[in-house]
Amino acid sequence: MEEEIKVGLCGLGTVGSGVFKLLSENASLIKQRTGRDIIIKRVATLDRYDNLGLDFSNTEVSDSVDDILRDPEIDIIVELIGGKTIAKKIVLESLQNGKSVVTANKALLSEYLEEIFRAADLAAGTLGFEAAVAGGIPIIRSIRQGFSGDRIEKFSGIVNGTANYILTAMSRDGVSFDHALKAAQEKGFAEADPAFDIEGIDAAHKVILLMAVSFNAYFDFSQLSVEGITGIEPIDIAIADASGFVIKLLGSGSRTANGFQGRVGPALVSKNNMLASVSGAFNAVSVWGNFVGETMSYGAGAGSYPTASAVVSDIIETIRAKSNGMDNPLPLLNINAEHLTHQDIIPPEQTDGAFYLRLRLDNTEKSVGDIIRILDEESIGIQSITQRPISNDLPTQKYMIIFTESANEGQVKIAIEKLNGLSFVTTLVKMIRVEQD
Ligand SMILES: NC(=O)c1ccc[n+]([C@@H]2O[C@H](COP(=O)([O-])OP(=O)(O)OC[C@H]3O[C@@H](n4cnc5c(N)ncnc54)[C@H](OP(=O)(O)O)[C@@H]3O)[C@@H](O)[C@H]2O)c1
Repeated sequence: MEEEIKVGLCGLGTVGSGVFKLLSENASLIKQRTGRDIIIKRVATLDRYDNLGLDFSNTEVSDSVDDILRDPEIDIIVELIGGKTIAKKIVLESLQNGKSVVTANKALLSEYLEEIFRAADLAAGTLGFEAAVAGGIPIIRSIRQGFSGDRIEKFSGIVNGTANYILTAMSRDGVSFDHALKAAQEKGFAEADPAFDIEGIDAAHKVILLMAVSFNAYFDFSQLSVEGITGIEPIDIAIADASGFVIKLLGSGSRTANGFQGRVGPALVSKNNMLASVSGAFNAVSVWGNFVGETMSYGAGAGSYPTASAVVSDIIETIRAKSNGMDNPLPLLNINAEHLTHQDIIPPEQTDGAFYLRLRLDNTEKSVGDIIRILDEESIGIQSITQRPISNDLPTQKYMIIFTESANEGQVKIAIEKLNGLSFVTTLVKMIRVEQD
């Protein structure tokens, strides 16, 4: 009879408790699929755990991760504490000790990508990180296995459920950002400190991992262009809607003739694009391969059970590899380690794109000529230019909305500086990228 697999679970919070429940509830199904019993031998948690409704009769619970790290019987260590201090110690020490590790920690992996992946490559055990990107959507597995014959050209996705929930509420209910954020916090879709989600940082952590797996290289988090959704106003959402677009926080990466592009930022997405219909806390990622073409994966990007599903899928993959006597069944970044390189991300100012510009003007009579001249000086073609009244109380003031042709982002930013210097531009120009399908 095959020996049971012993798991050490570090952290019993939202995801950790979901993993515990999944492994208990689906134990017999998982045994049929792996041929092994999985025992959670140890749990490390700082929180109270007796009110979670979990059966700890086969599990030793303590408040120290060292009890897990030092236990020679444990085969797989699951890091679900988060943060970068203790989590880094758990991941690196476990790999050095020959254990397999599963983690959902995108913040840790994206910052220490090269150090951790190199350690994993040298280690006897495996590293699973499916849950670190888009929660329950198996997007890492899709790219590494499903598209392993394709050259990935591009990906673009909604990878932060909180930001998408807020933008959906603003769009559906016409409310302000602050109002939508408060509602998201009341309903449990946003943390008390939502900075990582609304500033785009959480999405950026996932984009760095998606770029690494898609383009088979290490990238520096610090080179990624990151902008959140705090500057999105109801007027932008309304204008976008009237023009056939929805505003989404997109995380994207692409392979171009000049190198690799990567960014996180709000974008106008055409209503014909499938990403436009992804609403609420859901996530979706489109991936383009050179043979498969465009694909899209959709599902819950976070939450206890969907994320637990991804964690357990990594545990099962590890067990199957062990049962087959394979140390590293799949190259971590989809390419054998000797071919891995470190690549730069092209600065956004050196990339091209189409843009939405919103100007608030006093006295539009004189202004159009000056605005067109400035855009022309920076070689920015205009796709459309329209005016929109602000209110009856402000008869001389108007919004001017410009959709540009594809233009160099650096030149668009120079043009905006010049536009902001015009006496009749009363509020700083708003610029949002237009996603090109
Ligand atoms: N939640 C999601 O939907 C989701 C989705 C994808 C990925 N993730 C990732 O999954 C990881 C866990 O997230 P989570 O939402 O489950 O976080 P969480 O609910 O805050 O759970 C973390 C748990 O670890 C405990 N902990 C902290 N320091 C510890 C220590 N030294 N020893 C033992 N336990 C310790 C915490 O206790 P205290 O509360 O007492 O500090 C808490 O119970 C993070 O890396 C996160 O980014 C989460």
